[in-house]
Amino acid sequence: MTDTGTTGTRLDPIRAQAIAEKLYLEGLNISAEDAIELLDKHVAHNYGLLTRDPIVRAEGPWLYTRTGRKIFDGVAAYSAANLGHNHPLVREMLMHFLAHESPTVLGRFLPDPFLGLLGKKITEMTGYDSFLPANGGVEAPEAAIKLVRRWGHRVKKVKGTPEIIYFDGCFHGRTLTVTQVLEDEVALDGYGPFVEGFVKAEFGDIESLKRTINENTIAIMIEPVQGEGGINIPPDDYLPALHKLAKENNVLVIYDEVQTGWGRTGKLFAWEHYGRECRPDILCVGKSLSAGYAPVAGILADNELMQLFDPGSHGSTFGGCPISSAIALAALTAIEIEDLPSQASEKGKYVMEKLVAIAAKSKYVAEIRGKGMMIGIELKQDGPNGHDLAEKLYDEGMIMKDTHGWVLRFTPPIVATIEDLDCALGMIEKVFTE
Ligand SMILES: Cc1ncc(COP(=O)(O)O)c(C=O)c1O
Repeated sequence: MTDTGTTGTRLDPIRAQAIAEKLYLEGLNISAEDAIELLDKHVAHNYGLLTRDPIVRAEGPWLYTRTGRKIFDGVAAYSAANLGHNHPLVREMLMHFLAHESPTVLGRFLPDPFLGLLGKKITEMTGYDSFLPANGGVEAPEAAIKLVRRWGHRVKKVKGTPEIIYFDGCFHGRTLTVTQVLEDEVALDGYGPFVEGFVKAEFGDIESLKRTINENTIAIMIEPVQGEGGINIPPDDYLPALHKLAKENNVLVIYDEVQTGWGRTGKLFAWEHYGRECRPDILCVGKSLSAGYAPVAGILADNELMQLFDPGSHGSTFGGCPISSAIALAALTAIEIEDLPSQASEKGKYVMEKLVAIAAKSKYVAEIRGKGMMIGIELKQDGPNGHDLAEKLYDEGMIMKDTHGWVLRFTPPIVATIEDLDCALGMIEKVFTE
């Protein structure tokens, strides 16, 4: 054994334990100033910070800061924490997984029982034949785009450039392919040239879709409720009409439910609000599929389509790795047992009612809109903007995030109790009626 505690080439467990404890405690006990200095100095500045007080503990819908503040999480990591932070079922699953020295990563060419179990669970819950696993949410629309392109070339056999229709106000993540759909100058600036084959239609306007669809269209890619775009809900007859149009033109429908999925809008998936005929050909999932413990995402489709992916045609080292699969299996089990869709539906109604009453007393609010626990507060543009109000709300003790300046979104963990929500609503009332 060397004085670094190694036997052969690997640390012995006792020494590893001591080093890990030291590393962890360094993170746990670091001062707010030092933590921010490290972030400023060593980490890319692609995000602005809402606060300079680091978050060091999280439980359910509550976050705890380095300086001892308790903050209500009104964003839930953009719906990745629908089940609240540190869900006990997922934590227990991880403890078992680690205690039994299960392989955390293998390479997908080796069989893993947890991925099989996850596949069974997720296909049973969603009613699709097959699941393609991935990491972060953006990999889901990326995979969907590749799949519909294969279908366009091999099955529909389009003659020209295959086209995918997207919508104004949409958001599908930040890879180069889907960056081009954003309407935000900063998000687009300096990244061209972009991938060809994407055309825009107006969200919620069936006539615009009719004008855009043509013989080279292979797919329509849409969020059934737009999240980043400002909690935009299409008219009730829009998605059924979209599907009818897609069918008539032999075009596939991709729903990006990375944010709306797993109960957020009051149904397991937002498309279910609009009837069976609105079941998409490809469903993109992510975020709370892992209860926030790891990046886990993917797409669901029936075999006829999914079999266009054959060995070697798509893949990822970590996508569907054993530890992610075990985490997602536990998260889905918790979503089912806790019935997140019903919770979101009931609590969403309660919150909407209260917010509408607050809006009536506030000079800042233009509109409250939402589905389930996916709620947006549209601000009048002659008062403080979303960022200013988010800062005031943070001072009170809660996190809300603006989208495009004038919409604040309220998307807390769905498991927040009525008592938690009342506390958050009290803070909103104070800031909005002062
Ligand atoms: C609808 C939608 N698709 C895709 C993504 C990208 O997910 P991720 O940030 O995990 O890559 C997001 C993220 O907010 C999203 O809202």
